[in-house]
Amino acid sequence: MSIFNTDKRIKLGIWGLGRGSSFISCANALNIDVVAGCDYNLHMRERFQKNLPNAFVTDNEDEFLASDIDAVLVATWFPAHAKDCIKALNAGKHVMCEVTSFATPGEGVQLVEAVEKSGKVYNLLENYPFMKVNQYAKKLWQQGIFGDFTYAEYDYNHDCRSLSYTYIDGVPVIPGYEAHNWRSWYHSHHYNTHSLGPVMQITGLRPESVVAYEVKEPLPGFIPTKSNARIGASLIHMSNGGVVRNLIGTSSCDTHSKRIWGTRGFLDFTSNCYVRIGSSGHGRILNVKPEWPALGDLADTMGHGGGDFWELYYFAREILTGEKAPWDVYSASDVTIVGIMAGRSSIAGGQPITIPDFRKKEDRDRFRNDFEKPDHFDPKHIFPDGHDPAITGNFATVMSKFSNFSGNMGMVLLRNARDGMKLYHELAGDADRFAVITDVKNLIKALPDLAANCREAKKIMDAYPASPAAAAIKSTLETCDAEWVMDTDNAIKELQQWLVDVQ
Ligand SMILES: NC(=O)c1ccc[n+]([C@@H]2O[C@H](COP(=O)([O-])OP(=O)(O)OC[C@H]3O[C@@H](n4cnc5c(N)ncnc54)[C@H](O)[C@@H]3O)[C@@H](O)[C@H]2O)c1
Repeated sequence: MSIFNTDKRIKLGIWGLGRGSSFISCANALNIDVVAGCDYNLHMRERFQKNLPNAFVTDNEDEFLASDIDAVLVATWFPAHAKDCIKALNAGKHVMCEVTSFATPGEGVQLVEAVEKSGKVYNLLENYPFMKVNQYAKKLWQQGIFGDFTYAEYDYNHDCRSLSYTYIDGVPVIPGYEAHNWRSWYHSHHYNTHSLGPVMQITGLRPESVVAYEVKEPLPGFIPTKSNARIGASLIHMSNGGVVRNLIGTSSCDTHSKRIWGTRGFLDFTSNCYVRIGSSGHGRILNVKPEWPALGDLADTMGHGGGDFWELYYFAREILTGEKAPWDVYSASDVTIVGIMAGRSSIAGGQPITIPDFRKKEDRDRFRNDFEKPDHFDPKHIFPDGHDPAITGNFATVMSKFSNFSGNMGMVLLRNARDGMKLYHELAGDADRFAVITDVKNLIKALPDLAANCREAKKIMDAYPASPAAAAIKSTLETCDAEWVMDTDNAIKELQQWLVDVQ
């Protein structure tokens, strides 16, 4: 099946085969042939090659860019996107780039000018606006039901703690005495596009200034800097005078609010989709059923609620037909730089900062030499020089075991069980009581492994107590009640007795 009315095809290379590999499945239907891949990591290359045995695969970016490809999908390290995209544009390739577009304003200027000079297509792969509910919200917004934009609350508040110590496929960082290249330290405000992006695309408005305060307390399990491991809230003044509250980062509760207020109506697409009409705070509330515009069946087969399909679709469409995609380099700059400036505003104690518009030469000139980044530790040097890899080499594996998404082990299970026990007698229903009992039973089974992991972590921490790595271990062991866990027989007896008492 081909969606575009042409036989022309695009030869695509994927640079960064973690997230990058998730785009392979629907490429064919979009006139895209994935013919090359590049990644430093052997396990990423092997997985890619297994999927596409005839593709050219290398760990060398120069060989990759010299191969016979028309376009590059850049999914390399977050802070390297501008550099890598400029290199691909200069090699004569169309480029689509994972979020975000750049890490400093100066790089943003360089990127915009490289795109203009190349004459090639550049798209940002910001997928959240293209999920079904957000596309549907845009359609309703354009019908005028909501009037003018006044305020929005959008979140991308997502605990990705374990990715400080693993790649996206769950493989612990290699070598194991390092932390992840950027996920371990990046400024919470910088990953801002999944929540601001939808509001920009739904309303068609541009961000004009931003203000944010610093949150002091980092979460346990991270190597803390002044700016990572936190929830980040910013207020963004949009071009019509409305305000967006953008909530991002890692916290003790993932939230994905999607709420927009207009002068005539309101929508809340957070879980059940409803709109309030009637041009009044007590107007009628109606449930609505979002529909895809077209090609929905195909979109539904792709990740992020179909959002991944549409970004590939728009990119192919722009190359094949010339019709512009939603995220060109200018709107990509608008959405990216808000996060950078929110970070700066928080460091400056909540000072509002104007968002430069890189369509304008005077704004570019003001920022072309601004390469200032937030301070952070070097993830390759989280132990002192001369450390013993026989001790430290297990760090990434140990840390990734403490914190994972499934909630079935480590720190999450421990806290689910022990804090659930504290709340047990206040719980409203049997389902929650059953859930706590299940967590306690699972913790009894997991305790010997968790205790072994605590001992291994403590060994690393005790060997290098002043290292950045030790700070992450310390907060993890405290959150895990490690002393109690390591007294394993008594801990198990206590849990078993609790089960007898409540059942
Ligand atoms: N839009 C989304 O929903 C979404 C989801 C996940 C990740 N992302 C973005 O995708 C990007 C990649 O993320 P990831 O989760 O795969 O994590 P990652 O940062 O661990 O992956 C980067 C991969 O690129 C490789 N790499 C980096 N520089 C390279 C170079 N010069 N040459 C060869 N290989 C190189 C690394 O070995 C690694 O496998 C990130 O910027 C992230 O923000 C977006």
